[in-house]
Amino acid sequence: MSTRDFNEHSITDAVIGRFASTPDLRLKQILDSLVRHAHDFIRDVEPTYDEWMAAIMFLTRTGQISDDKRQEFILLSDTLGISMLVDAINHRQPAGATETTVLGPFYVQNPPVKPLGADISAGLEGTPLYVSGQVTAADGRPLGGAWVDVWQSDNDGFYDVQKEGEDPELRARFIADENGRFALWTLVPRWYPIPNDGPVGEMLAATRRHPNRPSHIHFMIGHEGYETLVTHLFVDGDPYLDSDAVFGVKQSLIVDLDGGKGPAPGRPELKSWKKLDHRFGLKPAGRQG
Ligand code: BEZ
Ligand code: FE
Repeated sequence: MSTRDFNEHSITDAVIGRFASTPDLRLKQILDSLVRHAHDFIRDVEPTYDEWMAAIMFLTRTGQISDDKRQEFILLSDTLGISMLVDAINHRQPAGATETTVLGPFYVQNPPVKPLGADISAGLEGTPLYVSGQVTAADGRPLGGAWVDVWQSDNDGFYDVQKEGEDPELRARFIADENGRFALWTLVPRWYPIPNDGPVGEMLAATRRHPNRPSHIHFMIGHEGYETLVTHLFVDGDPYLDSDAVFGVKQSLIVDLDGGKGPAPGRPELKSWKKLDHRFGLKPAGRQG
């Protein structure tokens, strides 16, 4: 192969050839494919110098706005559908296992452990929601002692970590009983915009895309011997179910919130409340597909 005088076609194989001695074959495969697709992209788009520089500056700003609290590259991946594509490839769930969706930036490790039935709404305003559920294996066997982390936005669409104040709100860990059952009180969540004051927000505005996610409650559920499940439940009827800014909605994760009838569990004084009950199926660890 010629080692000089590359043209707009021959340069691709020349670059790939330069990686020929990479000892890590997976790294070599990734770089070969990256170069091939990136060069094809450039040949397809034929960017001007100004456009190429605008792309460099966009990615530079994406890095500059990121820190230990904000990860704009993940947000970019989310809004380009890349996060859900990686999720789909890595979570080919067996029958009976709950479908997965994006983690999002608002998870906090080791949330406070609350007793079953506790209220996590920390006195915030909103419609009380009783969430009950059961954690099982994909084949339906109850998984007693499973841990269930729950987090969600408030009535105005904000997570506690986006607000002033140190105390956790609308987030907690529950330990399921011997039948895998758990329950808690929270509030009906509301749709909200993803952080859109950075480069990702510029991209959404330039393309006339809205930044909103349909109302949802996040769950991370684990048990020894099973893959940790990262998912949401979405509220049926939300106006953004078909245009989630991060492409995270799956039909099997949409739930009806029923109006609670009779005395509310542990809160007989409540006049008006909603409820949902859901089974979460976990995939055995190490199992493909
Ligand atoms: C979330 O649901 O918390 C979320 C997911 C992806 C990007 C931004 C927020
Ligand atoms: Fe969320």
